[in-house]
Amino acid sequence: MYEQIERARALIAERATITPRVGLILGSGLGGLADELEESVTLPYAEIPGFHEPKVVGHRGELAIGLLSGQPVAVLRGRFHFYEGYSMAEVTFPVRVLRALGCDTLLVTNAAGGLRPDWQVGDIMRIADHIFAPGMAGHSPLIGPNDDRLGPRFPPMVGAYDNELIPIAHTTAAACGFSLREGVYLMVAGPSFESAAELRAYRAWGADAVGMSTAPEVIVARHAGMRVLGLSLITNLALPDGPPANHAEVLIAGEQAKPRFAALIRGILERM
Ligand code: HPA
Repeated sequence: MYEQIERARALIAERATITPRVGLILGSGLGGLADELEESVTLPYAEIPGFHEPKVVGHRGELAIGLLSGQPVAVLRGRFHFYEGYSMAEVTFPVRVLRALGCDTLLVTNAAGGLRPDWQVGDIMRIADHIFAPGMAGHSPLIGPNDDRLGPRFPPMVGAYDNELIPIAHTTAAACGFSLREGVYLMVAGPSFESAAELRAYRAWGADAVGMSTAPEVIVARHAGMRVLGLSLITNLALPDGPPANHAEVLIAGEQAKPRFAALIRGILERM
């Protein structure tokens, strides 16, 4: 894998005019921010070794490198999901490449179902911690021989979400006129939405939001020694007695939250 990361890095670095410091992963419907980069260079995933074409509606497949709020960033516009049939190694490969390009911080976003009845669609939650359900079932991206050049064999996940970035996130949200929720993100493999009994179980475990991404990328980022900030847009309420979730409402909520989400990310980058 090391050689494949290096091939991707070399190809991208040849095209890019700046060295990115912050890697951004933009989830369902949130990719528009990549259009706002200055001095940007864009590479379709199809041109990057080890990358694939995302197949989910609302996810485009391209890497953009440029300045956002004055910060040198590399934006993954669209991500690979485990439920699409990719291995966890394939899902997380782009994070390895971000690291190799020079990013020491990962800002990751996603769409999630809210497990708390007192929360609302459109709320944004800072991921304070995660529960990686596929990892419990043996699907960690770190399974297999460890390459010590990429990170340690047994990386801790306590404190995975960087403490120094917490006040930055909250101050920025306040400046944007809203308050940020704090909560635990639980990742399921999907693609089916959760059963009512599962939703009750996840809530009892201490999860506040549920989604189908992010945890593997965060684990690999931590393995690689990156700081992590995770933000979930609550696109629907995932309540055992509520209406069943559907992908259309996820996209609609993403669309509606776009300006707020974009302002939040810009402000966070400014303060970093
Ligand atoms: N469940 C799982 N993933 C999701 C949801 C949900 O309710 N909403 C957005 N992504």
